[in-house]
Amino acid sequence: MSSDNHRPDQILGHAHEADGIEEYDNKLPTWWLGLFYLTIAFAVWVFVDWHVVTPRSLAGEYDSEVAAALAAMPPAAKPIPVVIDAAHIAAGKAVFATTCVSCHGEKAEGKIGPNLTDATWIHGGKVEEIENTVFNGFVAKGMIAWGPILGPEKVADVTAYVHSLGGGL
Ligand code: HEC
Repeated sequence: MSSDNHRPDQILGHAHEADGIEEYDNKLPTWWLGLFYLTIAFAVWVFVDWHVVTPRSLAGEYDSEVAAALAAMPPAAKPIPVVIDAAHIAAGKAVFATTCVSCHGEKAEGKIGPNLTDATWIHGGKVEEIENTVFNGFVAKGMIAWGPILGPEKVADVTAYVHSLGGGL
């Protein structure tokens, strides 16, 4: 590098040539500068609009979407009063045959789940207690919460059936 071949638009102070590529301090093209200023203006606009004009955030968007989804969901089912008569007991027997025999046995005599025909109860043998057990389950003990699966009517029917088996208090 000798000062003889220095040209006025070359950058001084550091190597202006590497591997045959020379570096010049030329003016940037107008179109390039225009785009550059446009991106700055865009960033300012986004910042002002996002944080000042209509404040938004990803967390806020998430919260409002979750709230909308929850509002669109049907209300959670609750147990309904159990009616103990022949028709409901018969309906409950059908539910029991398809849903409960695998664990409680053909005649509710007990298998994986306990006997439901005697007066010995873990969680209580009153109608409401049985319905609560069936509806909410004791999941940690292996008894499924049937409320959300069967719905309140079938839970009430199968409760009437279980209560009628002889052990009901
Ligand atoms: C996957 C196996 C399984 C199925 C299916 C099942 N249960 Fe159970 N059930 C259990 C177990 C295990 C327990 C004992 C829970 C405990 O020890 O707390 C139980 C407990 C119960 C109890 C309480 C008994 C007591 O002594 O308090 C009732 C009532 C009952 N089940 C009714 C039903 C009905 C009605 C159905 C059908 C809708 C059903 N169960 C389906 C496993 C099952």
